[in-house]
Amino acid sequence: MIGSPHHHFETIGSTNAHARELAGQGAPHGTVVTSAEQTEGRGRQGRAWATPAGKALAWSAIVPLEGEVPGLFPLRAGLAASQAVEELGDGSAEVKWPNDVMVDGRKCAGVLVEGRPQDGWAVVGIGINLSIEQDEFPPEIRDRATSVGSGATLESATDALNRALTRWLVEADAAVLAELNRRDYLAGREVTWEGGSGTASGIAPDGGLIVTTGDGTEHLHAGEVHLA
Ligand code: BTN
Repeated sequence: MIGSPHHHFETIGSTNAHARELAGQGAPHGTVVTSAEQTEGRGRQGRAWATPAGKALAWSAIVPLEGEVPGLFPLRAGLAASQAVEELGDGSAEVKWPNDVMVDGRKCAGVLVEGRPQDGWAVVGIGINLSIEQDEFPPEIRDRATSVGSGATLESATDALNRALTRWLVEADAAVLAELNRRDYLAGREVTWEGGSGTASGIAPDGGLIVTTGDGTEHLHAGEVHLA
């Protein structure tokens, strides 16, 4: 079960950094680190991630990992985050490949997976915006970000994430793929990437994004996909 033991902080640099430290010291799988504020929150691709005090949840879990980090593993985390967000809020939550959580076309939660397969563990870090008002987001992301709202608390969000990741870490690949394709935000949208553009057409069994182009189909695996 993800969520035991649980270490909570009022403020911390980064829950992912702390969880990695704990994992390196031999903390058990299932350990969760949460914080009501991060001062050095980390996003994907070296970006920063804001966790303003009491208005968002920073949640990191130490989970078992065998094999490579790419594949379905990071997508399982996005699926868990989307299920938790949907349970906490009013609207339905979609997954923007590989693992952003979208509500009404805006990002509500982000996932950063940092794996050490050689040591048998990974840290799954999830940040959920709970009650950040629209005008409190930095201007550059204001029209692309949103919060869960609906009275979601640090406790209810922690509980929802614990349960959702416990489930989606062990579901069969076929169930994960079916749910990913059901929640696929990009499906049917035009996407561009380094070297091409096309229409997003689903998630492949290896976790890649299937894109239909004028020349056939391609599977994208790395880097960011930007909407055209
Ligand atoms: C992204 O969308 O770029 C990923 C954001 C991940 C943020 C979470 S908050 C909890 C954990 N601790 C961190 O420093 N980052 C992740």
